[in-house]
Amino acid sequence: MRMRKKKHGAERIAACSELLIENIEILKDGFDGIFPESRPVHMEIGCGKGNFASGMAAKHQDVNFVAVEKVSDVCCIALEKAKARTEERPNDNLRFIIGDAKNLAENVKPHSLDCIYLNFSDPWPKSGHAKRRLTHRGFLEIYKNLLKPGGILKLKTDNVGLFDFSLEEFEAFGAEIMWHTRDLHSTPENADNVMTEYEKNFSDKGTPICSAWVKFR
Ligand SMILES: C[S@@+](CC[C@H](N)C(=O)[O-])C[C@H]1O[C@@H](n2cnc3c(N)ncnc32)[C@H](O)[C@@H]1O
Repeated sequence: MRMRKKKHGAERIAACSELLIENIEILKDGFDGIFPESRPVHMEIGCGKGNFASGMAAKHQDVNFVAVEKVSDVCCIALEKAKARTEERPNDNLRFIIGDAKNLAENVKPHSLDCIYLNFSDPWPKSGHAKRRLTHRGFLEIYKNLLKPGGILKLKTDNVGLFDFSLEEFEAFGAEIMWHTRDLHSTPENADNVMTEYEKNFSDKGTPICSAWVKFR
């Protein structure tokens, strides 16, 4: 997601500091103290402008959500949008991290997450860039370590190339593909779906959405 540098980005992010985990090293001790109440923790990686994270946190008050985005100007928008929706979250169950998924392993307590979402991750189509794809086995190793036993990785994408690659990586990694579809919006599972910004754009154009749910053994 490219965007022009935000004016006063740092000040705007600071104005949403109640939603931001500024020093992710504190997560080495887990999520106690981050939220007012201990609940299952779900993490979205690459949250973009944050519609999914805000929507899920409003819909599932019994879950604590953490949204990770590596581009600070993009996360600034997500933070501001989430702040504008504070009243929808009486349980105060949403936080953001500005950072790269590759740094989660050394900073987040192992086996502290119940679910990880990858929504419309950058496809990195050149084969030389495969290691940058968020479903490359290098990242799967990180997710396996972050998830609790029985925890689930949920993927959505419009990109068939990335989806095929992801299914191959899951199998090669020995993960269990619990469920998958190449047309999420035609399935019963869609009843509980919260759309992301990219998902809305693609589905408005008639592009089917691929999805998979995966468990690590
Ligand atoms: C194509 S956008 C999709 C945004 C949003 N999930 C949606 O569906 O509308 C992918 C987002 O993932 C972020 N991203 C890519 N690689 C990342 C990484 N390694 N760690 C954290 N965020 C990442 C990008 O900056 C971008 O905002």
